[in-house]
Amino acid sequence: MNMGFVNVLILAIAFAAALPMQSEAGENASPKAARSAKGKTLFIKYCAGCHGAEGNGDGYKLLGPNPANLTAPATKNKSDSDLLATIHEGKPNMPSWKGRLTDRDIQNVLAYIRTLPQ
Ligand code: HEC
Repeated sequence: MNMGFVNVLILAIAFAAALPMQSEAGENASPKAARSAKGKTLFIKYCAGCHGAEGNGDGYKLLGPNPANLTAPATKNKSDSDLLATIHEGKPNMPSWKGRLTDRDIQNVLAYIRTLPQ
């Protein structure tokens, strides 16, 4: 066998093997998972007491508006900026998180909320 051909073959195999790994480790996939993993830790610590560990809104019933069911279509259909505003500003029966959580942590928590199954 001619060595030039072997080299081209090895290059082609190495290239094919490298391609799928590159797209998996690409900009979007893993940072997103890392964000929602961070967000989960924050959610359990700060939000689950009211919203429930699964986000169903069954953590704690209050006088007045009950904690939102974050897995419901009503929440799923809201835009990121709507939900970020609510988390920043709070609601009746929900504290404001602006100043208690960094903007990045609030985005991490929202990234986690977006992964909650319906
Ligand atoms: C003391 C209880 C309490 C805690 C703690 C709490 N929430 Fe809430 N949350 C509520 C209540 C009550 C509502 C609904 C208010 C209403 O309907 O007016 C709500 C609503 C929301 C909404 C709006 C949902 C929608 O469909 O508009 C989001 C998003 C949310 N909470 C996220 C969070 C996050 C994230 C945390 C933790 C950082 C958190 N909440 C902590 C009580 C709480």
